[in-house]
Amino acid sequence: MAEIQLYVDGRELTVEDSKTILEAATENGVYIPHLCHHSDLNPAGICRVCLVEADGILVPSCRAPVAAGMVVKTGGDLVNKARRLAVELLVVNHHDDCLACGKNNDCKLQEVARYVGVDKERLKRLRSRELRPVDDSHPFIVRDYNKCVLCGICVRTCDEIPCVEAIDFSFRGYDTKISTLGDKPLQESKCVSCGECLVRCPVGALLPKNGAQPAYEVKTVCSYCGCGCGIYLGVRDGKVARVRGNQDSPVNDGELCVKGRFGYSYINHPDRLTTPLIKRNGKFEEASWDEALELVTEKFQEVQNKYGAESLGGLSSARATNEDNYLFQKLLRSLGSNSVDHCARL
Ligand code: FES
Repeated sequence: MAEIQLYVDGRELTVEDSKTILEAATENGVYIPHLCHHSDLNPAGICRVCLVEADGILVPSCRAPVAAGMVVKTGGDLVNKARRLAVELLVVNHHDDCLACGKNNDCKLQEVARYVGVDKERLKRLRSRELRPVDDSHPFIVRDYNKCVLCGICVRTCDEIPCVEAIDFSFRGYDTKISTLGDKPLQESKCVSCGECLVRCPVGALLPKNGAQPAYEVKTVCSYCGCGCGIYLGVRDGKVARVRGNQDSPVNDGELCVKGRFGYSYINHPDRLTTPLIKRNGKFEEASWDEALELVTEKFQEVQNKYGAESLGGLSSARATNEDNYLFQKLLRSLGSNSVDHCARL
């Protein structure tokens, strides 16, 4: 890949010729507001918030490739006016109850509106749309159409990351919205509930049903299957309140499946066994670990003596760590049996 020089706001930048203007600027610390662009996805150039002037012409910087000697202006009257109009048209139909929104202070629309500045009077004149019903049919995701800015990030995520294509743009003009096939509730669509759209939604249009903000996070590895995806467990009041993928993990690059992202309620479930139980007189009773281990050893020996070591077998779990599973097979083999299996098949 060849390197070229271009000029951004008077600064000479040296970048690879395969970059877009937005990538070249961002890599060199120049901020260009943008909304529908996400670095994990192919650029779409929908929102026009990232407009810049390149060699005297307005172009969306997220799609426009760099060129040798190109002169780029990221500000100025022409750019600011066009950009402000693009943002105002997005803000005008956006539900504006920011304080009650789970995305408050982490909202890309707030960020760009703050940067470009919007004219409140013009917004009042433009405001038109009726409130739309919220789709909360899904067990984990709430879709609020009143906050959607039609950036298409959720659509492209669904197409490009899990490759499910459960949602797309539908209807026309003011009625345009993101919907499932036949405009059915999300729960009735072919959505696989991976939550990748939720993670990338730049506004509050897609939010988790459990919106509790964790107090702190613990870096760990998902124990559902043999993949070993890197995750962060968000903890609040001593309980797991959220899971997010670790973007630095080479296994999953931050992506997760439905179990890894949403299947954490078992961790703190009251039905979960936390002490060993021993059946006495037909009833399970709580016991200490020493009591339980002694009983298991006795029973193993009984079986071994009566039927031979090969009559013992063990079934392990994908929810145990690799180390635990290693020790489990070691235990069975040391008892003289090779009959070890597990439930972690993908
Ligand atoms: Fe470039 Fe939306 S970020 S057009």
